[in-house]
Amino acid sequence: MDITRRQLIAGGIGLTASMGLPLGAEAGARGFRFVHITDLHIQPELGAPEGVAKAVQKILGLNPRPNFIVTGGDHIMDGLDVTRERADLQFKLVKEALKPLEMPIYYTVGNHDIFGWARKGGNDSKEPGYGKQLFQEKVIAGRTYRSFDFGDWHFIILDSIQAVSPQGWIAEIDDDQLEWLRQDLIQTGKQRPIILLSHVPIMTLFNQYAENTTTAPTATGIVKNGKEVRDYFVPYNVKAVLQGHTHVVEDCLYTGTHYITSGAICGEWWEGYRLGVHPEGFAVCDVRGDKFDWQYVSYGWKAKKGR
Ligand SMILES: [Fe+2]
Repeated sequence: MDITRRQLIAGGIGLTASMGLPLGAEAGARGFRFVHITDLHIQPELGAPEGVAKAVQKILGLNPRPNFIVTGGDHIMDGLDVTRERADLQFKLVKEALKPLEMPIYYTVGNHDIFGWARKGGNDSKEPGYGKQLFQEKVIAGRTYRSFDFGDWHFIILDSIQAVSPQGWIAEIDDDQLEWLRQDLIQTGKQRPIILLSHVPIMTLFNQYAENTTTAPTATGIVKNGKEVRDYFVPYNVKAVLQGHTHVVEDCLYTGTHYITSGAICGEWWEGYRLGVHPEGFAVCDVRGDKFDWQYVSYGWKAKKGR
């Protein structure tokens, strides 16, 4: 997908693009800022639309203002086990809540963005919008994995959600996507700084602090072939992997790559801080030259239930 089309979908055409320059070309030496928002889990209940609107206002008030947004998936509370009406309503709320951002938004698919894969009454693959189709139609208008450039940096969005029967899904990067990733990395080259995005973490210590020291990860908690993905990108200049899914704030730095899980817009699914310690918020990422910095910013949401 070309930049102009992506920006149109995002609801805003940047000044640089309208002047015919590559996106972010002017950002070059003086750097740029972007925000990673993940796990919005929007729904009509618990004030979620109001919460996302508050997060959006916090983003718009940042100084400097971000150049663009990347999302980390789980935009809606759930699509896996809901009616089409309920899925449509949640996607409508996402669109309305993010509209005021007026900057390009690049979306990552999460497991809860998938329609109908885990119905208690049985799945119906013939239903219009089934699986990733609804998210593709309503949110991204294209493929669930792709890449784009901003300034000298390269961004790779992975689709970590794959269908399995009968339980619904597992976190994995499939073979076609791995081959695409390999090609995309080759084209990018070993010098350019890269940011990767995946809803389910490629690397996390979640189980060790949230469950028990010896609790093994599962294929719905971490990307099953995450090591293989990492092996692909180790020779390249991957500065950070931005992740979601667990709703915690975590930064694992290993051989020069930050594996960052940047909390959740919804905290503990709109019921307070995640695990009692991670507030509702998002990651503000600052890039200058070859350097990457980030901070977690809470937007001051007071949960209507829990905490
Ligand atoms: Fe989530």
